[in-house]
Amino acid sequence: MIYFDNAATTLRKPPEVADAVVRALGAFGGVGRGVHGASLDAGMAVFEARETAARLLGAPCAARVSFAHNATAALNIAIASTIPCGGRAVTTAASHNSVLRPLFKARDERGCKVDVAPVRPDASLDFGAYERLLEGGADLVVATHASNLTGDVYDIARMTASAHAAGAVFVLDAAQTAGTVPIDMGALGADIVCFTGHKSLFGPQGTGGLAVAEGIEVAPLFVGGSGTASFDEQHPRFMPEALEAGTLNAHGLAGLAAGMAFVEREGVAASAARLGLLTERFECGAREVSGVRVLGGRGGIDRCPIVALDVCGIDSAMVADELYREHSICVRAGAHCAPLMHRALATEQNGAVRFSFSHFTTAEEIDEGISALEAVVRAVR
Ligand code: ALA
Repeated sequence: MIYFDNAATTLRKPPEVADAVVRALGAFGGVGRGVHGASLDAGMAVFEARETAARLLGAPCAARVSFAHNATAALNIAIASTIPCGGRAVTTAASHNSVLRPLFKARDERGCKVDVAPVRPDASLDFGAYERLLEGGADLVVATHASNLTGDVYDIARMTASAHAAGAVFVLDAAQTAGTVPIDMGALGADIVCFTGHKSLFGPQGTGGLAVAEGIEVAPLFVGGSGTASFDEQHPRFMPEALEAGTLNAHGLAGLAAGMAFVEREGVAASAARLGLLTERFECGAREVSGVRVLGGRGGIDRCPIVALDVCGIDSAMVADELYREHSICVRAGAHCAPLMHRALATEQNGAVRFSFSHFTTAEEIDEGISALEAVVRAVR
């Protein structure tokens, strides 16, 4: 089997990730819930995870990183924590539903106004339109670092400059980029960075979080047990506890810490350079296959290890099924929870066949993927 669905979840993890989870399952109590060894060991592992995440994201310090169960949870927390009732938010058509749906919920339930900056058919952001939307001022901008459909990486430093000039807090969705694109939230100007653990940070599913810049006030979305100040009626407002209620997933976070340590050791920039070559190899091969159209990949300033295809104008689910049944190749088809991006690329009807690679992908697998694509095109035409 060849696994090309790493943008959804990386399947192959460094072996130390599973080892860390198994060890944690046999050893950890609740973080911050006891003074005994089992609780302190869990607390230490989670603190190490916070420190590594802070280094990988360029966050000010470990205490400004809160954990959540994935990027969707982190984005819901970030959005609910920063937009006032009746406030104004701007996003882009490259956003995933993990951004769009919380924003539309805020519009429908809290009277917020939501505007969406368009993306062109080559997947590039229409900066002029984005900047015009900000002219009236905004409370919040939420944008994806890279499209989960095409892999295009957007010019976040330029976006944050306009957002801050408009008075907005800038929330970055780094679900696809944490671990595949170097991130320095200070240099990018992002106020909050939301990430997930189960993709290129090689953690287990159910891990992720958000890093919050100094000076950005966050209000809790979930409230409850914090292990401290139990007689207060209000949940603590200080980081990281403000955004963490209830017992943390320390077992999963131990695995995430091991995954992030692997990413740090390998180096995000070095890994991105190698993955860039593999992605290009696949993209060039795919462009040679008659009837295949590569989506996007021209509009961004950089690229995540993702290539999305329109294959002969036929239903992407049929192509994915054929790739799996006949060639044991795993890809993702359909709409990828990115409805506005599909609309921009005119692929709403058939969706797209998305190939996504990871640190463990080999050149041989890429070449087998191209051969399989050629065979599928021969079969369907
Ligand atoms: N958001 C993930 C993806 O793009 C699940 O596949």
